[in-house]
Amino acid sequence: MGNLLTINGGKPLEGRVTVRGAKNLVPKAMVASLLGSKPSVLRNVPEIRDVEIVTGLLSVHGVKVTKDPETGDLSLDPAATKSATSSEIDAHAGDSRIPILFCGPLMHSIGEAFIPDLGGCKIGDRPIDFHLTVLRSFGAVVEKRPGGIHISAPKGLTGAKLELPYPSVGATEQVLLTAVKAEGITELKGAAVEPEIHDLIHILQKMGAIITVQTDRTIRIEGVDQLTGFNHRAIPDRNESASWASAALVTQGDIYVEGAIQRDLTAFLNTYRKIGGEFEVDDDGIRFWHGGGRLKPLVLETNVHPGFMTDWQQPLVVALTQAEGVSIVHETVYENRFGFTDALVRMGASIQLHRECLGSVPCRFGQRNFLHSAVISGPTELHGADFDIPDLRGGFSHLIAALAAQGTSRATGIEIINRGYEKFMDKLTGLGADVELSSLGR
Ligand code: EPU
Repeated sequence: MGNLLTINGGKPLEGRVTVRGAKNLVPKAMVASLLGSKPSVLRNVPEIRDVEIVTGLLSVHGVKVTKDPETGDLSLDPAATKSATSSEIDAHAGDSRIPILFCGPLMHSIGEAFIPDLGGCKIGDRPIDFHLTVLRSFGAVVEKRPGGIHISAPKGLTGAKLELPYPSVGATEQVLLTAVKAEGITELKGAAVEPEIHDLIHILQKMGAIITVQTDRTIRIEGVDQLTGFNHRAIPDRNESASWASAALVTQGDIYVEGAIQRDLTAFLNTYRKIGGEFEVDDDGIRFWHGGGRLKPLVLETNVHPGFMTDWQQPLVVALTQAEGVSIVHETVYENRFGFTDALVRMGASIQLHRECLGSVPCRFGQRNFLHSAVISGPTELHGADFDIPDLRGGFSHLIAALAAQGTSRATGIEIINRGYEKFMDKLTGLGADVELSSLGR
């Protein structure tokens, strides 16, 4: 049975939170350990559900994952890597999308992989066609089986010339994790260049890989026969940092985010300043607060890095409901990432969704009937409501809206938040939120 979170809103969030390793890097670094001939050590690992899922998946494949009880550092030993049965894999895959990244490393290590049908947040179709196309280009044979796909490389994996139709983060990682030990040279055009991709490249380089990132989204990888282990401190989670920054703005609070890095948040900080948020950067983190007066509206487009990231959009939309005037947010990465606005409207926000591209650049979704542009008019007073958490970032935005709203809100599905926000309840109470978690019982 799940839990019910009761939120009494109207109080500013004030205090300090610590952000640790990025949810969108750590599980992939764990997968990279499969490529090594020696054990690896991963530091700055957050206690989130996605780490548990990948720990389970690595374990059923024979990788020994040990956690240092004091530091939380993970030691990953792939010496006894083996095949796993589809039921073992199913039992651990949960609703994560990470299993697809096991393909290359498992083919290099044991010649085959079974990948269960994927989950992840319901924010669009989230196909895996790019992944399968690049894997086939390396020489992999993909076969649909009940409950997932089987993938093997009977003739080995060979480097290839590849071009992605869109700079997909996951497909770029797929190429990196496969090409580093494929025979010969791989050239990937149209690659994603998110900070988490660079951190994965640094990990692979520590293992012995040869990877060059060019200025035009081209990545060149020279395959090597063997890789060793790595010792690496994961980059902090910039999406969690942006989430707490938005929480400070929305609740008219003041939050110091220890671990937030300016370099990885440049586009976010520009937008934050433009709508009326204040921030101060020091060597250990960034302090975020509401600058006083009314927030200012703006026109915003989500994009791949170095643009304004799609995962920053949802909490910021809550802040825009409090800006004076009309804001436009055009989502160009996922076709269906505005479902969360329903609950905000029930809480008093004025948000209309449109099928047209309302930003300055037409995107892939313009002619395809997706509600992917939002017009937000403000300011509107928010009041408490009951809601079910739909996905990670949308859920966070509902929670901060409830914390800013007058009255009481009740949220179910709060477990989803644990996929990407470490010690979420402790952090909320530490910031002074009036929240109570109770069991829904049977
Ligand atoms: N796409 C395809 N075919 C593919 C792969 C992707 O059409 O085979 C499309 C997607 O449907 C989407 C776009 O390409 O429209 C971009 O998807 P991408 O592959 O970049 O996303 P991802 O790797 O599945 C990661 C993060 C997301 C984050 C995106 C964009 C992880 C585990 N997830 O997803 O994070 O939004 O990159 O930066 O790294 C989150 O943290 O809440 C989250 C959803």
